[in-house]
Amino acid sequence: MRPRISRSRACRIASASLTRQLAATLGTVDDRGAEQRALFRRWPTGVSVVVAEAGGRRAGLTVNSLVSLSLDPPLIGISLALSASLYEVLRDAGEWAVSMLAADQEGLAQHFARSIPPIALWDGVAVRDDDPQLLTGAVGWLHAGTVQEIAAGDHTVFVGEVLSIEQGPGRGALVYLHRAYHGL
Ligand SMILES: Cc1cc2nc3c(=O)[nH]c(=O)nc-3n(C[C@H](O)[C@H](O)[C@H](O)COP(=O)(O)O)c2cc1C
Repeated sequence: MRPRISRSRACRIASASLTRQLAATLGTVDDRGAEQRALFRRWPTGVSVVVAEAGGRRAGLTVNSLVSLSLDPPLIGISLALSASLYEVLRDAGEWAVSMLAADQEGLAQHFARSIPPIALWDGVAVRDDDPQLLTGAVGWLHAGTVQEIAAGDHTVFVGEVLSIEQGPGRGALVYLHRAYHGL
């Protein structure tokens, strides 16, 4: 025969069980996040610097999430952490520029990944005379206008319509793999 328990005790047991289940689920999610990161460290990506300008501030960030999404219409995407210094500027600007880095541009990738204060961000960085949002010597340059923002956990995916494309003089490509840069 099943032992009789009070309704309030049953509620407490159910709630404790839910808490355990929730904790277990959250634990699993954390593990999956770590595993996802570990796996993607073994997967090579190109490296770009994305720049946006708003409110008198020109911000830039190293990203490896740049992706070509569609050709008709021409769309590209980047995934930005909600905590990224570029985030608010890019949202406010509504437009952004991309410099796709060449094999010998590791220094620029490191620079724009380093949380440099805005006042020093552009010190010693060579930009194009005709467009200070574009870094010299890149493989190619794009300008995009945000057409969609997709919430994606601790990131937002910005979908941009390509407004201009230019081939650059940069040779090879900078690749990120195993938490290190490689010039290919
Ligand atoms: C190779 C590489 C690729 C990165 N890609 C992205 C990215 O796609 N999106 C993003 O939000 N942050 C990315 N980051 C992190 C930023 O570059 C930067 O390190 C981080 O946002 C901290 O800088 P901040 O304080 O200026 O935001 C990447 C970092 C590295 C080293």
